[in-house]
Amino acid sequence: MAGSDAYPLTGENLRGMERNQYVRHLFGQIAPRYNFMNRLMTGGLDQRWRRIAVLEAKLPPGGLLLDLATGTGDVALMALKHDPSLRVVGADFSIEMMRIGQHQALGRQVRWCGVDALRVPFPDNTFDAVISAYLIRNLSLEQIEAAFREQARLVKSGGRVVCLDATPPPDTLLKPLISFYLNAVIPFMGRLLAGSRDAYTYLPKSTQAFKTPDELAALMTSAGLVQVYHQRLMMGVMSLLTGLKAK
Ligand SMILES: C[S@@+](CC[C@H](N)C(=O)[O-])C[C@H]1O[C@@H](n2cnc3c(N)ncnc32)[C@H](O)[C@@H]1O
Repeated sequence: MAGSDAYPLTGENLRGMERNQYVRHLFGQIAPRYNFMNRLMTGGLDQRWRRIAVLEAKLPPGGLLLDLATGTGDVALMALKHDPSLRVVGADFSIEMMRIGQHQALGRQVRWCGVDALRVPFPDNTFDAVISAYLIRNLSLEQIEAAFREQARLVKSGGRVVCLDATPPPDTLLKPLISFYLNAVIPFMGRLLAGSRDAYTYLPKSTQAFKTPDELAALMTSAGLVQVYHQRLMMGVMSLLTGLKAK
């Protein structure tokens, strides 16, 4: 694949396969430093949000979880830490990201799977819950609803689809401060510590241009999920959405 210079800076105008290629390449590049950068940028809070997402999935003991866009497997590994009886599939199209996860503690207990989140090769009604963390903002608007429809297809009736993602900061007094952190501090840290300013410019840009939690909830509902609700975390910069598959 060509170097990152071949790609526009943020990928925001890209669609379909071209967008997938851009995103895959980007995560392939930052994979070795991904976990370190997340802990640093959030002061370790990112793991707390993933834990809340796992609890929100309300998996039964021994239940089967799909961690879609698993990346380095943080959600999958968190789920196994929370309940070692769970069976967990971690699926992503970046093999480089999953390779990092394979070497983490409990990494051998995850069934890793190379897939596109829009075409997941499992039958209907397979999983007790599907969680995706930070997948949706990588998708084009047309792809978001298709991804939720795919997740609704994969989960069993009565099971939960849980989506954790960064959402645009709400209009509060803190908004300028949050925007400064996203637009200046994160790209600076990305260049200095992860060797990729592009990736860490894309991440905040894709957050601020992203859908609000209410808009995402509407997309989950139109994808066929019911009782969809959301919680805002971290002053509204993160949102956790949950929907059920009707019985
Ligand atoms: C920000 S990372 C999140 C990883 C992990 N869920 C976490 O909590 O850290 C986004 C992940 O989504 C994956 N991804 C983006 N679009 C995808 C798609 N269409 N199919 C599969 N994986 C995708 C990327 O490869 C990347 O690993």
